[in-house]
Amino acid sequence: MLGISERTRSLGTENAFVVLKEVGELIRQGKDVVNFCIGQPDFDTPEYIKEAAIKAIKEGKTGYTPSPGIPELREAVAEYFSETRNIDVKPDWVVIANGAKPFISYTILSVTDYGKGEEVLYPNPGFPIYESQIRANGAVPVPLPLYESKGYAFDVEYMEKMITEKTRLLILNSPHNPTGGVLDRDILEQIADIVKRHDNLWVFSDEVYSRMVHDGEFVSIASFPGMQERTIIVDGVSKTYAMTGWRIGFAANEKLATHISRWITNTDSCAAHPNQYAALAALTGPQDESEKMMKSFKKRRDIIVEGLNKIEGIKCLKPGGAFYAWPNVTEACRLVGVKDSEEFRKQLLYEAGVAVLSDIHFGFKNEGEGEHIRFSYATSEENIREGLNRIRRYIEENRVN
Ligand SMILES: Cc1ncc(COP(=O)(O)O)c(C=O)c1O
Repeated sequence: MLGISERTRSLGTENAFVVLKEVGELIRQGKDVVNFCIGQPDFDTPEYIKEAAIKAIKEGKTGYTPSPGIPELREAVAEYFSETRNIDVKPDWVVIANGAKPFISYTILSVTDYGKGEEVLYPNPGFPIYESQIRANGAVPVPLPLYESKGYAFDVEYMEKMITEKTRLLILNSPHNPTGGVLDRDILEQIADIVKRHDNLWVFSDEVYSRMVHDGEFVSIASFPGMQERTIIVDGVSKTYAMTGWRIGFAANEKLATHISRWITNTDSCAAHPNQYAALAALTGPQDESEKMMKSFKKRRDIIVEGLNKIEGIKCLKPGGAFYAWPNVTEACRLVGVKDSEEFRKQLLYEAGVAVLSDIHFGFKNEGEGEHIRFSYATSEENIREGLNRIRRYIEENRVN
């Protein structure tokens, strides 16, 4: 029999895509669904960015580029990282890839060896690709539970206890998918102090939502003394400039840049050439459209959080960043007599016409943390209001407790 490797069969996925397929099917059947599943801006890519890509194509910038990317974009990213993270980043330390996502596996591949029991710490709940790629690349996933009572940060003392001689990498993601939590300066400093005590411990800092901090400032762990050399800073244009389908992400680390470039030579060869020019225009062009989008996310955050907290059985912390809300629906599940968040999600989809994701799509449930669902509020205010109304009505009409 033609076999499929165990590694492939056990590969995790991003359930947002699975649920989206389900939602797409319902919509095709004519069902009216308010969709809060998809983690991408609902705006179109700004015109000047599109024009830059068209110009690049017309000028024949359509061949391979060097694996780490075109020099102009590496320079622009170095400048962008230096300015926004308050550090000094050289263009040679920057690598461009087809999205921020591929850096997850490139980094794990670059700092851990397959099957040697090397450990990677990652947030749970978290972006599901972290755990999936840690396993697929033969390392050992070590989850760091995030707690509602800590504003969805993890317990730093617990993190310290979980670091062993085998720990090679700590994955951080702030602002965070799915909770919207932001790690503040104080907690990042505590994390940095612990990490620095370990010679062979890298940090993967997933900063794709760095421009979506709604209250206060964005802080990168790379900005603390002694941290830049051991941190791979990862960001991209997907979320900031409404460019998810253009697939351009970037990362910076002095030591890892050449190694990650070799992985790119071995896989994609390079990021899509014209799209690198689009990203260059995004970073170096006028920022007002992006800023407008970021402001609208903040306004929507306020609407959705206030609305959710008015629904009986739902409690929602105010997320500090990204475009996700992660309400606790333990009581709502009890009110309508469903056993958990996943059943609640299905009820919302099929009975109320509201598509969300549930906590099981982002890892396992941390003990005592209850049931949660994830809303992406990258959708219109009108949709948000309609979705909330439908949920409120559904709970009122289906109460059994
Ligand atoms: C935390 C996190 N990291 C990375 C990505 C992937 O970003 P990109 O589109 O740049 O590959 C996402 C997308 O949802 C994300 O939520």
